[in-house]
Parts: sequence; C-alpha cells; structure tokens
Amino acid sequence: MCGIVGILATEAAAPQVVESLKRLEYRGYDSAGVAALEDGGIARVRAEGKLKNLTQKLQSHALLGHTAIGHTRWATHGKPTEDNAHPHATDRVAIVHNGIIENFRELRLELEKEGVIFSSETDTEVALHLVDRELRKLKDPVKAVAAALPRLKGAFALGFIFSGFEDLMIGARQGAPLAVGYGEGEMYLGSDALALAPFTDTVTYLEEGDWAVLSRNDVIFYDRTNAVVKRTKQKSGAGAYSIDKGNHRHFMAKEIAEQPEVVGRTLAHYLDMGLGEVRLPTPMPFDWKSLDRITITACGTACFSGMIAKYWFERFARLAVDIDVASEFRYREAPLQKNGLAIFISQSGETADTLAGLRYAKEQGQHIVSVVNVPTSTIARESDVVIPTLAGPEIGVASTKAFTCQLTALACLAIAAGRARGVLSETQERRLVTDLIAVPALMVEALKGEHAIEQVAHDMAKATDVLYLGRGTNFPLALEGALKLKEISYIHAEGYAAGELKHGPIALIDESLPVIVLAPHDAIYEKTVSNMQEVAARGGRIILISDHAGLSEAGLKPHAMIEMPKQNPDFAAIVYSVPVQLLAYHAAVALGKDVDQPRNLAKSVTVE
Ligand code: F6R
Repeated sequence: MCGIVGILATEAAAPQVVESLKRLEYRGYDSAGVAALEDGGIARVRAEGKLKNLTQKLQSHALLGHTAIGHTRWATHGKPTEDNAHPHATDRVAIVHNGIIENFRELRLELEKEGVIFSSETDTEVALHLVDRELRKLKDPVKAVAAALPRLKGAFALGFIFSGFEDLMIGARQGAPLAVGYGEGEMYLGSDALALAPFTDTVTYLEEGDWAVLSRNDVIFYDRTNAVVKRTKQKSGAGAYSIDKGNHRHFMAKEIAEQPEVVGRTLAHYLDMGLGEVRLPTPMPFDWKSLDRITITACGTACFSGMIAKYWFERFARLAVDIDVASEFRYREAPLQKNGLAIFISQSGETADTLAGLRYAKEQGQHIVSVVNVPTSTIARESDVVIPTLAGPEIGVASTKAFTCQLTALACLAIAAGRARGVLSETQERRLVTDLIAVPALMVEALKGEHAIEQVAHDMAKATDVLYLGRGTNFPLALEGALKLKEISYIHAEGYAAGELKHGPIALIDESLPVIVLAPHDAIYEKTVSNMQEVAARGGRIILISDHAGLSEAGLKPHAMIEMPKQNPDFAAIVYSVPVQLLAYHAAVALGKDVDQPRNLAKSVTVE
C-alpha cells in the first residue's frame, strides 16, 4: 500500500531516493518523506500530499547524507498529515514501513506505560520505539532489530537506518514485498524492483520472515529464526521498462494506447500462431479432464476479468466456475474438493485478500494457478503454476492494459482446457485462436474512434449517475465500465446485466441518465435491443457501443453510438474494453480529475 526505499549511496542519497519514490508513487500518494544520516544524527523532510510537495521542500531543505530512506504513503492508521508521514524517527533510529502492524494497540500501550511519547497516530511508530528500546539496552542495531521483530504481528515490510552507523541499513519482510538491489559500492532496498531499476538490475527478493543487514559492499540475510540464510541474486528485468508517459498526458492514456501491443505480446506467449493452437509454456500439474468445477478469486477489475473468463471456461471447456471476490472467498469457508483447481488473478500479485484466498485454497488441497502481471510477486511465488500477463508495468492506478492482458491469458487457458477435455475439436480451437489473433488489430481500430468517444465522454461528464448494461461477457464488462468511471471521475455509476434492468434499476431511468449499452451483434443482441426499448420508452439517454448500426429497424435512435469494428463476438469483451476505458478516461479529464492518482486509492492493496 505504501512504497519504501533505502539507499546506501556514495554521494547525497536523497535525490536518488526521490527518483525511486517517483516509481513507487503508484502504491500511495497521501504523503512522502525522506530521512538521511547527517552529522551523526537523523535529518528528515516530510510533506503532506504528492511527491512533488516533498520535492519542493527538499529544494529549500536539502538533505546531504549518503545514507537515506524514503517513503510514499497510502494512509491506513492516522490521517495523511505531515506528522503521520514516514520516515518516523527517534534520535537513534529512523523507520519506513509498508503494511499493517496488527498488534500495534497493545504494543503502544506497553510502550506508553514505559514513558514513550508518540508523535503520530501510525501503527509504524510502535516498531520504531520497540527497536529504539532494544537499541538503548543492547547498543547494537542488528541485535536490536532481531529482538524487536518477533514482537510485531501483521503483514509488513520495514526499512531502518541508525544514527552513527553510516554503513548500515536493515530491511525486514513479513507479508509485504521487499527487494535488495546491488550497485557499484552502493546498496539499495525497495518495495519492488521497478523502484530500483534506475540504479540496478541485480536484486534479491526477501522471502517471508526474512530480514537483511546491508552495508555498501555486502548483505547478510536472516530468516525468521535469525539463522543466516542464502538468497539468490537475480536479474529483475525491470530496467527494460520505461516508466515515462511518452507523448501522452497521463499514464492511463499511454496504457490504454499500448493495449494492441501488450495483448499481442501476451498472445504470442500462449499461442502457436502458425499452427493456430494454444501452447501453454508451463505444463499443468493436473488433468483438466479430472475437474468438475474450478474456483476463480480476485479483487476489483481483476475479478471482473475472472467473471468474463467464467463464460469462456463454461462455454469452451464445459467446466463450471465458482467466482468470488477475494475478501468474501477468504472468509466464507467454501468447501473445495481436494485436488481441484483454484485460479487467482492479480495485476500486482500482492493484493492481501487475494493472497489470503490463495493460502486458504492451498490448505484445502487445491492446485494453485495464478494469472499475474508481476512474476516476482508473492502470489506468483506461492502458486503451483504462473500464467504471466505481459502487460509491462502498469502505473496508472486504474487498471487498463493489465485487465485486457488478463482476459487474453484467460481466454488461452480456457481454450487449452476445452481442448484437453475433448470439448473443442482441433478445428474449433483453430477458429477461436484465429479470432484471438485478430484482437490486437481490432483494438487498433477501436482506438481510432477515440475522438468521437471523447465527445460522448464530455457530454456524459455532466451527469451525476451513469448506468452500464451488457449481457454475456459484456455483463462483467459493464461492471468494469462502471468501476472505471467511478474511480477516476467520481461520477456514480452502476453496472447491470441488461436482463436485470426491469427487476429494479429501471426505476432510475429518466432524461438525465446516460445508459451505456455494450451490445456486440451476437446471439443475444436482440434481447439487448428489447432492454434498450425499455430504456428509450422512459426517456433514458442510450449510448450504444456496438458493431451493428441496425437500431432504426427496431424504431430506436440512440443518443450516441460508438461504432466498433465487426468481429466474432466470443472475444468482443477484450476489444470493447477500449471504448469503456476511454469513456471513463475522457470524462475524468473533462472534469479535471487526477486520472493517474485518483483520491483515496492506491495501486497495490497489500492490506486487508
Ligand atoms: C481498478 C483496479 C482495482 C484492482 C484491484 C486488484 O482499476 O485497478 O480494482 O483491480 O485492486 O488489484 P490486483 O490486480 O493488483 O490484485
């Protein structure tokens, strides 16, 4: 939820820390701060709000120390004020923290009884004072951290520096990701490899319960029993990804535009284009034929991609799918048949609820397959099989290209299941693969309509509520459309299965309500036309997204029409994601909202 970084540098470290925080800002942007060792003490600069406020402050309060830690916050405990901003510090130690310390109340009481005065409302400060207390007793930072860590419960990653110890930094991981990076006479600590990419491509990911003691030329890893352990160095590959906006105004716009390319890249990973077959790069440790049903679990947009995939698994592989949001799945004690298959979908691979759902499914004897965009993430590492989406880093908080790459990978998986179960013939597989191969080009066509979509979005931005309707795979896409609009424009929106309209939401319809109808010309198109009749009869403003312009035959005239290229409807939801995303994007831009960093949100939700 927050981003942490630490640098043992050979020059002033603060500029590098800020550079790194820029790459972590997607994790939270309520406040930011840096602490550096200066003149044997700890100096801090912290600022409320986005990183640019901190950067401004650092211009007049430059930090010159070579040893520094930094933080960008998504507030959990305490308001996003400067007092609550990290790093927190005593005279002896400074800390940055991502995650939640669950037993902070009891620890705070214990420390307060001993006379400790807290200066923030954060849970983080208890970790700081625990280490400080041990440091006063033991006079040794490594021993102090070793003594304090077992007292902390929760899911977190921590970074510490110590006054008077220029060549020392300690990082700890329990439930939230942390990587050590290796430079030339420099060492780094960061929430992800992307944050360290400007400085190094060589990293070690800490394992659960690990903590690491860094100096400029060495690192020692300990496990949760404080035994010294070996952890492998690896190439992160993060340097290959640029994280600038290119010619685009926002990351979200860039990421929407990149979709033909990254969907194509993902397809190339899973398809033998020549033979027209799905070719999964990793063998599955189970027999598709032995499965009666599968479970899919995810959060938010990732869950909507799973809902769309449900239609594909059921249609192509005759495999029943149970799908649930992870925050419900993890607690509803779902009975799962031993040796079943549970699929988890996550862009970040770190979402706390999804990870907890995965662990539950593992305990229930499920084979775990994860569809993730970050192959080094915790969810990926705890899975039996990883199905990577090759979207590249997604920086905009609203998920776009990760979503369509999830759909692409899941479509391939469903076809593979259909073939393995003998439901799809070779010819049927080839037809579906041919349709999938056409998707990137269709997305290019859909993107060409951006200008027209922008006009529609400007009009829609005047509304206070918007309704999205769809059937089949376009029903979950309607839910996704409503989520996208809400999260970046703050316009209230709802998604419904078009057939549900008359069971309640029809009461909302009047002349002021835009109703976005996602209606490819498929077998159930006429059913959706009937729903449009119901909307039109009540004066609703229909915005039709379709590849079929024949509404006049039904005596209907939509308020606006976003024309889509003709395609086989099986995979229309992937292509129709483009106008859905662009509508939300342009409505938010028209309203002057912060599209890439919407209020109250963060990209990676590593707390429950
Ligand atoms: C919405 C969005 C969120 C995420 C959700 C899960 O645009 O991005 O709804 O989809 O928080 O995140 P991941 O996929 O990282 O598990």
